[in-house]
Amino acid sequence: MRMRCLAATHHRSTMPRQLFVTTALPYANGHFHIGHIMEYIQADIWVRFQRMQGNQVHFVGADDAHGAPIMIAAEKAGKTPQQFVADIAAGRKPYLDGFHISFDHWSSTDSPENHALSKEIYLALRAAGLIAVKPVEQFFDPEKGMFLPDRFIKGECPKCGAKDQYGDSCEVCGAVYAPTELKNPFSALSGATPVMKTSDHYFFKLSDPRCGEFLQTWTQDGKLQPEVANKIKEWFTKDENGEGGLGDWDISRDAPYFGIEIPDAPGKYFYVWLDAPIGYLASLKSYFASGGPKARYGEQRDFEAFIADPAVEQVHFIGKDITYFHTLFWPAMLHFSGRKLPSQVNVHGHLTVGGEKMSKSRGTGLDPIKYLKLGMNAEWLRYYIAAKLSARNEDLDFNPEDFIARVNSDLVGKYINIASRAAGFLSKRFQGRLCQVGGTREETPETIQAQEMLRSLQARQGAIVELYEQRDYGKALREIMLLADRINEYVDANKPWELAKQEGQDARLHEVCSVCIEAFRILTIYLKPVLPALAEQVEAFLNVPPMFMAKSQELLGVHTIGDYKHLMQRVDAKMLEALLEKPEPAAAMVETVKPGGEDIAPTITIDDFTKIDLRIAKIVNAEHVEGSTKLLRLTLDVGEGRTRNVFSGIKEAYKPEDLIGKHTVMVANLAPRKMKFGVSEGMVLAASHADEKGTPGIYVLEPVAGAQPGMRVR
Ligand code: 2FM
Ligand code: ZN
Repeated sequence: MRMRCLAATHHRSTMPRQLFVTTALPYANGHFHIGHIMEYIQADIWVRFQRMQGNQVHFVGADDAHGAPIMIAAEKAGKTPQQFVADIAAGRKPYLDGFHISFDHWSSTDSPENHALSKEIYLALRAAGLIAVKPVEQFFDPEKGMFLPDRFIKGECPKCGAKDQYGDSCEVCGAVYAPTELKNPFSALSGATPVMKTSDHYFFKLSDPRCGEFLQTWTQDGKLQPEVANKIKEWFTKDENGEGGLGDWDISRDAPYFGIEIPDAPGKYFYVWLDAPIGYLASLKSYFASGGPKARYGEQRDFEAFIADPAVEQVHFIGKDITYFHTLFWPAMLHFSGRKLPSQVNVHGHLTVGGEKMSKSRGTGLDPIKYLKLGMNAEWLRYYIAAKLSARNEDLDFNPEDFIARVNSDLVGKYINIASRAAGFLSKRFQGRLCQVGGTREETPETIQAQEMLRSLQARQGAIVELYEQRDYGKALREIMLLADRINEYVDANKPWELAKQEGQDARLHEVCSVCIEAFRILTIYLKPVLPALAEQVEAFLNVPPMFMAKSQELLGVHTIGDYKHLMQRVDAKMLEALLEKPEPAAAMVETVKPGGEDIAPTITIDDFTKIDLRIAKIVNAEHVEGSTKLLRLTLDVGEGRTRNVFSGIKEAYKPEDLIGKHTVMVANLAPRKMKFGVSEGMVLAASHADEKGTPGIYVLEPVAGAQPGMRVR
């Protein structure tokens, strides 16, 4: 097992450790998905464990508010970005409470603290000579008046020609390319053809030898997981062409941008990834300002003094996809602005559900709120995730059968059962009183065996503590379940249900049941970081104050417990079916879905329909219309012995030459309309989503081969 020098030192000292713990700040453009919840559960278990060890923990989170995608999503929703982000933040609580995530504080990267800290850190980097300004040429949307992030540029794949592909990679053939390589690129925002435009960008000079030297040492000195440290090594190496290695990092974006203004650079904003990790510090700062630490630990420290204190450990939990930001950019930002570095950056793998990968924005089929609404116990999930987590950066699969097996056989079958097997006899026969195991009676072999068993449970505390410390929760739970097996064997060997029927066996029955409760209590302490709500119920049942780790080394002895109420149900497979089922498309449509983004229009009669004369038309010519950005001029043959002139708003979607010779459907009896460019004698039918009218997402109808001009469509 890997040991951290720092942690080991702290174990020996009697002073409580001071921990500042964070999870990755979620983008404020959507609700939490199961990937977020998994990370929070991982961190929360560690935090609760540390608190049970008597350590001081400040556990903070925040919404990652800035960036172009959020700005654009807000505009689409008709809200200011601030309002948009606030609305998302307002929905966080049911998730966090529901899964017992014990953040002390939740803030936003758009907070005044983060604005101030980000500027401060930037100015320190600039003073250290690590900021450069360089021109950058990028796609610009002339209609929107903004530079386009890669994912807002679409076009045809340069490799396979597939239409409607994103600016970085093709979903059809998998090719990876630069947005400038796309054929017929267009802005996904306005549909306009982007133009190349140059502007000045601000860079963090990571190519400076000071940065390389510092990071090569910092990332390789044993504080990161070995597999993570190894991966990072690759990022420093240049290939034979001198490519690769640390390049300068572009930290600015041009207005319009939702972000923090760069000092002395009008119209320039920090790229969201510059201010996001600073949000960790800013959230802690606002927590200090709220008086939270004082309320909890009775002392008010200055934020800056706290964060600079070498005794304070700063611990981040993150997913593997953002390792680069947290192990290179973030430490470099901290170090070269004269700040203290993280003590741990703990990287976890991704969660798959039934083997399926999840999309970063949409999550998976496992909706955490649906889980709670179905009445599923949050601690089943906490237990299951903990059982599958190790200290390593490994992916983890949520498998429904495995979930049922672990919860029903292990958690309920092995652990909860211990209490339910003993509690009834204790309340019915002994008024809930426990006896001292081996205390008052003569030491029989059975008593000695019972004492030894309890001592053997207590003896595992050190190992279990170390496994929690190292985030090896899966191993910790396996260890605890082995102890549960031992207790169940003890119950099976001593058969309290038979003792209860036998004359003169009261003292034995009393002892066996008391042993069960003592053992159950010890296991509950060991499981408490994972099962905090259950542990609270157990504390009420056992009639004891909140339990710390060290309490496992004591026994209750003569003590009266409360009435046993069933502590945990088994999972019903039907619940999982309901949780993971995809909504029936037909049923979903009736309820909520607007097909193509709009409701079906009010019902009409067949007579209404026959008023519209739809005809097959051949496109004999198509051409651009001078002075129009939207229209194409179509010359249509509808079998009338003459052609018709029709203007159609499909310029952004079609090149004229691609349409000539094709057949389509037109409204042939539409009143002619006089337009700026001439008279339009009808209308060509095209399909589009309600949100994309007039953009490249428009599709002209084409009949199956064989239809002739003039044929009526009915
Ligand atoms: O990847 C993400 O979801 C980012 N919002 C994480 C930011 S973590 C920290 F830097 F704020
Ligand atoms: Zn392709």
